[in-house]
Amino acid sequence: MTNPITSSGLEGIVVAETRISDVDGEAGRLVIAGHEVERLAATHTYEQAVVAVLAAGGARSIAELQLAAARVAAFELVPRLGDALGQPDAMDALRTSLGHLRPTGDDTADALAAIGAAPVFVAAWHRTRTGAAPIGPDASLSHAADYLRMTTGTVPSAAAVKALDAYLVTVIDHGLNASTFTARVITSTASDLISAVVGAVGALKGPLHGGAPGPVLDMLDAIGEPAVAEPWLLAELAAGRRIMGMGHRVYRVRDPRAAVLETAVRPLASRRLELARAVESAASKILRERKPDRPLAANVEFYTAVLLDAVGLPREQFAATFAVSRTAGWAAHVLEQRRTGRLIRPASRYIGKLP
Ligand code: COA
Repeated sequence: MTNPITSSGLEGIVVAETRISDVDGEAGRLVIAGHEVERLAATHTYEQAVVAVLAAGGARSIAELQLAAARVAAFELVPRLGDALGQPDAMDALRTSLGHLRPTGDDTADALAAIGAAPVFVAAWHRTRTGAAPIGPDASLSHAADYLRMTTGTVPSAAAVKALDAYLVTVIDHGLNASTFTARVITSTASDLISAVVGAVGALKGPLHGGAPGPVLDMLDAIGEPAVAEPWLLAELAAGRRIMGMGHRVYRVRDPRAAVLETAVRPLASRRLELARAVESAASKILRERKPDRPLAANVEFYTAVLLDAVGLPREQFAATFAVSRTAGWAAHVLEQRRTGRLIRPASRYIGKLP
């Protein structure tokens, strides 16, 4: 390499061509499998969105019903997960549990197995840690309804199912984010889809990627009422901490998914919604004054926190719920990488001692 480019965060470096999704950070536009995210969330169930992203990635044609069958098959593994469900962190539990799936060498089959297993394992983790027995899937329910039912043990309201379904569709894929890149790097070595998904869960766990919504809810709780928002946020910044749910590597305007989720949670009349709006507006104002050259607006995690709380999921399960949806996106990228990519092997610049 004669003129190496150094970019420690790889911003702006294109390492794949994709038909799965496109993020336009300047315009605040997200296209998934040929649909604007706003339209996809309004017209597709999660099952339909899974079919769309897997098809975009080049999967064999699959039927929506196969997802329910995959949940049922995954539940048979639950008694054999050993101490995976005893992990204190839901993402660690999900990573370890997914590691129990056996790669078959057929990416489409492995994709279905992983997408079906994620909600089953996360719900079983919740039940186990609260001292209750895991609840088996009901194949007659939608992915969203069954995930809620397996977690809470009660039949969820139609409004909660609709909101969660909109969430699962909205976050199903998002360009070459850190976890998707991880999945593609693993696939590029000719490894299997299950390994790629397990690695992606590890990348998603961090608070700079998927781990922010729990802390966003903690922040809303700590603020409590709109009048306290500004002084609380100023104290947070003075302590050298970032405002969770604000800022994005790619978006220079408000994340379009924030608006989709804000709309989806409205029918649930969440008491936190008004507070969240007030905190977002105070945070935007403060960050605009602090960083006039770096637009820092609400990202997807801000209203994810409000929505997942309103549908009745515990905050410890928020990041893992993101993974429940995103497993489909990761799987689609694995399929696409397998068909079109080559070994991803960047370079580093040696700055150590010379012999
Ligand atoms: N609160 C306060 N300041 C923030 C901020 C936030 N949420 N996000 C970025 N900044 C500041 C940084 O401190 C940095 O300031 P500096 O130049 O004085 O050091 C500047 O804005 C640029 O930040 P940088 O870390 O280069 O941006 P990035 O593209 O690497 O980071 C995120 C993007 C998402 C990691 C970052 O905005 C963040 O940490 N947000 C909070 C966590 C979060 O919501 N994660 C979910 C992402 S979907």
